[in-house]
Order: sequence, then C-alpha cells, then structure tokens
Amino acid sequence: MSAEPIQRDRYAVVGNPVAHSKSPYIHAQFAAATGEPVEYDRLLAPLDGFVEHVQAFRAAGGRGLNVTVPFKLEAHALASRLSPRAAAAGAVNTLRFDEDGIFGDNTDGFGLVRDIEVNLGVSLKGARVLLLGAGGAARGVVLPMLERQPAAITIVNRTAQKAHALVEQFEGAAREFACLISGGGPDSVYDPAAPKPYDVIVNATAGSLDAALPECDTRAFGSATLAYDMMYGAEPTVFMRHAESLGARASDGLGMLVEQAAESFFVWRGVRPDGAPVLAALRRQLAAQV
Ligand code: ATR
Repeated sequence: MSAEPIQRDRYAVVGNPVAHSKSPYIHAQFAAATGEPVEYDRLLAPLDGFVEHVQAFRAAGGRGLNVTVPFKLEAHALASRLSPRAAAAGAVNTLRFDEDGIFGDNTDGFGLVRDIEVNLGVSLKGARVLLLGAGGAARGVVLPMLERQPAAITIVNRTAQKAHALVEQFEGAAREFACLISGGGPDSVYDPAAPKPYDVIVNATAGSLDAALPECDTRAFGSATLAYDMMYGAEPTVFMRHAESLGARASDGLGMLVEQAAESFFVWRGVRPDGAPVLAALRRQLAAQV
C-alpha cells in the first residue's frame, strides 16, 4: 500500500540565466525546516517572454515566484499591488499570486539589513552609512536601511547625478526617520566636516562582477567599519580585500541572499525560517569550491 503523495504548493525562481541560482536549494532547506508543503523549481524565461511564462506558471497552479536578473523591472510592472518597499525600489523580486491579483514585493533590502544586524551583529540605529552605487541594487536597499534609523546615509556614485536623484527620491523618508541623507560623486565619499570613518559601507555597485573597485576615499574605512559587498563568490571580492587591507571588517553578500529568501518565504507562507543554518551550509559549499 502506498501513502498518498503530499500535495505541495508550487513556487520557483524565474530568470535568464537561472541555472546557477541557489534559491531552489535555499527554499528546499526552509521547507524541510519549517515543515511547509513547498515545492520550488527553476523557471527559465526567454528574454522577451517573461509575462507569458509567469502567467502560464500561475495558470498551472503556481503560488508565487522569486524574480531575478533581468526581470525585476518587468515584475514590478506586472504586479497589480505593490508593497511600499517594492514601490520605493522600483523593482520586484517576489511575486505572490493572490485570488484578487498579483502582489509584488522586494525583500532584497530587508535581507541586507537582517544580515548586517542579526548575522553580523552591527546595529544600523544611529550609524553613519556609506552606500556606493546608485543603480537598482542601491535603490532597493535605501528604504529598509532608513527604517532602522541610521544617523546619516551618504550615497556616492561614479555618475554623481544618479546619486543626487536617489537622495531626492528618499529625502522625505529620511526626514521621517530623522536621518541625514546626502550624496554625489566619488569626491563626496569623505566628509571633512565629519572626519571619521563610516560605521557601515555597502558596495551596491556592479563593480565586483568585473573585479573593479569603486572609487572610494581610503579614510572612509577604519577598524570599526563593516564593509559589506552585496556580491559573493568562492573568494573574497576586490572590495572586501581592499577594505581588509585598510583594517576594516569585510563581509560578502551571501547572508543577504539567504535572508531575502527567508523573507520571501515569509511573504508566501506567513512562517519565518531561520536563515543561519542555511547560510552556514552554503558557506561550507562555497569553501569547498576553492
Ligand atoms: P544594478 O541593478 O545591479 O544596481 P545598474 O542599475 O546597472 O545595476 O547599476 C550599476 C551600478 O554600479 C551603478 O551605480 C554604476 O555606476 P554608474 O551609475 O556610474 O554607471 C556602478 N558601477 C558599475 N561599474 C562600476 C565601476 N567599475 N566603478 C564604479 N561604479 C560602477
């Protein structure tokens, strides 16, 4: 006699490419740890076929999706309802199919904040934060960081005008959280009026992809600085090595990956899995690749 198979709710990560994604592994661990009946696959969508693939997945009973490169803007456009953090990010990494429509959320910034505060033990409250980069990755993390009430956020970008635009977008929210927000080009990294290293420096540029170091005054780094790269790999990134050579503590973005996944799981299931054991397992897998 065979037991009835468990009916599992279907989720997936959609992207192009998507073969490298660690999300199926992470969510399988979360499902096992929480006992939630979740099945999680990879969905490769053609570059011109995102919406059709999402709708087909939904029509076949799919309950939600993680969205990765290059579809986060299209997912934002597709959602019929957005969380405030997804609206502020202008991008969606989590879709939930509800009876009354498609809910779009963005858990990336939450994942970053949780990794910094919980896994790395650095409080953002009252901290001076330097954010390097002003593209989509940077925009997605500003509101979740502001919610932790840092003293100041400085946004610096190679193209100064894009940093100014981000500062303008978040000026109202910064006022609400009593946080000073400022920004500009690489020459505004180091503020002579506050001649101290930053507490937290986040590299949200795409520089690590091609091993480029974003321009940054060395005086921004000190022994009490946490230098966080949103990228990760088997080896420390150039930004991490640079920060460590200046005496700072450095972290890659593997914990952010796990924590954004945990928050997506919570958005779908209402249950929050513990990220720490999955992060430790991924860390071991990466170390084995060296
Ligand atoms: P994402 O969505 O990953 O943030 P993006 O919107 O293309 O991607 O933004 C990439 C960010 O990395 C930008 O801030 C970009 O700076 P510019 O706005 O001046 O282009 C930054 N960036 C990319 N390569 C860089 C490099 N070699 N040095 C410094 N900044 C870099």
